Amino acid sequence: MDGIIASASSEVEGSSHPPRRAPPCAFVIFGGGGDLTKRLLVPAIYNLACAGLLDDAFSIVAVDWADLSDDVLRAQFHEALQEFVARRGTAATTLRPDIWAWLSSRISYLRGSFDEASTFASLGERIGSGNAVFYLAVAARFFGSISDRLGESGLVVETDGSFRRVIVEKPFGHDLHSAKELNRHLLGVLRERQIYRIDHYLGKETVQNILALRFSNGFFEPLWNRQNIDHVQITAAETVGVERRGRFYEGTGALRDMVPNHLMQLLAMTAMEAPVSFDADAVRDEKSKVLKAAHCVGADDMVRGQYVAGMLGGEDVPAYRDEPDVAPDSQTETYVAMKLAVDNWRWAGVPFYLRTGKRLAERRTEIAIHFRHAPYALFRDTPVERLTPNIMTMHIQPTEGVTLQFGAKVPGPTVRLGGVRMKFDYSEWFSDGPSTGYETLIYDCLIGDATLFQRADNIEAGWQVVQPALDWSARVGAAPLCAYAAGSSGPVEADALLARDGRHWLALGK
Ligand code: BG6
Repeated sequence: MDGIIASASSEVEGSSHPPRRAPPCAFVIFGGGGDLTKRLLVPAIYNLACAGLLDDAFSIVAVDWADLSDDVLRAQFHEALQEFVARRGTAATTLRPDIWAWLSSRISYLRGSFDEASTFASLGERIGSGNAVFYLAVAARFFGSISDRLGESGLVVETDGSFRRVIVEKPFGHDLHSAKELNRHLLGVLRERQIYRIDHYLGKETVQNILALRFSNGFFEPLWNRQNIDHVQITAAETVGVERRGRFYEGTGALRDMVPNHLMQLLAMTAMEAPVSFDADAVRDEKSKVLKAAHCVGADDMVRGQYVAGMLGGEDVPAYRDEPDVAPDSQTETYVAMKLAVDNWRWAGVPFYLRTGKRLAERRTEIAIHFRHAPYALFRDTPVERLTPNIMTMHIQPTEGVTLQFGAKVPGPTVRLGGVRMKFDYSEWFSDGPSTGYETLIYDCLIGDATLFQRADNIEAGWQVVQPALDWSARVGAAPLCAYAAGSSGPVEADALLARDGRHWLALGK
């Protein structure tokens, strides 16, 4: 396809106020010695420090069971940060010593069990009475006990105008029932406004850009409805396998791991109505509404797949069943594709096709809006299948940007149509340093902006949509497992899912 690059002004418009510095806060991380803390949380906090967004009275207290000293923990964080800047670095490929000196002097370690009152008593002494955020970077089985202990020890009581907030990582439940239970549990100890349920997809710039794109421009929204849109494809394709997470993944699978949370967020941002403001509750109200209108179409409109051995990036990759900690006869899906309907005034009759999987041909997350064909009167000699489909694709990762695909006249004496593409690439227009995606989320929690976090009803609405699919998966024979080769674009049955409707997926790996 011929390409044209869109030209546009790179001037950034809008607010010129620099972001304000976050208030003083003790940032307590349960699971402070773990992988998430080292790979993502500490680098994100380092980036916030580089941007001057943390108060001088900011501190990190890492809580974990391992026998570590403050210095050993700092050395581990230092190493992880060096890897982070080297791996992701563009402008800055080395750690800034001034920032590290500032940050490391504010890091301390607290050894203790997440279950014992004594850990929480020591924590209380350590953090005193000011603002505190408690980050649950631990396995989901600890969420309930940590929040109970936080409640019993009085650590979440807000006194003298201070705040106490709890950030909860995923997985938030494993089905609708358990998500409701967990909400009930947390709300027994905390107020809704103290709970920040994280979905790291909402920290991605390009995911946040969906709302900016839709609601700050005049020309998308008038087309954004069933009159003009034929269907929507949401893809979250990964090349990685289950890595060291076989045990977790066996009990989870692609459906639970990606759909009720990340893909439902993408769907909600794409399909929601304009909120009355960008106030947290206004945005979350609209998301809940649209998710309540969404539902899986039927067991026949869902495909579960599992990868068998194949080739990826020129290398042999083993089958899922041969990965560590995976049962040799595992029935866990590593791929899922499904058709959803959104039964409301805007979307009735417009299918939303979702697919996500591991060990696919390409790493690509995107939302593709397929518009209806123009009336054919002028080009009645061109077969429909040769008219360029009008597709607007919002690229989430690894490329970040938007492309528009449409038809244009091929230069020459006869009228011939060719497909062209207009492209906006984030990296060409905005320069930004390396980020983890957690910077915005942590900063927002510190300043008390919950817009990018999930309210209890948002979480439950996401599970509500996929619950029938979970039920079908559990029923023998209702949603059989289809094999696909690692490195392919998924099971052929997923292609058939769209072919039945006279459509096809955008190709992966091309
Ligand atoms: C996580 C899932 O929530 O999201 C992982 O548990 C998945 O299995 C990851 O790999 C994908 O995130 P990203 O940001 O790489 O698209």
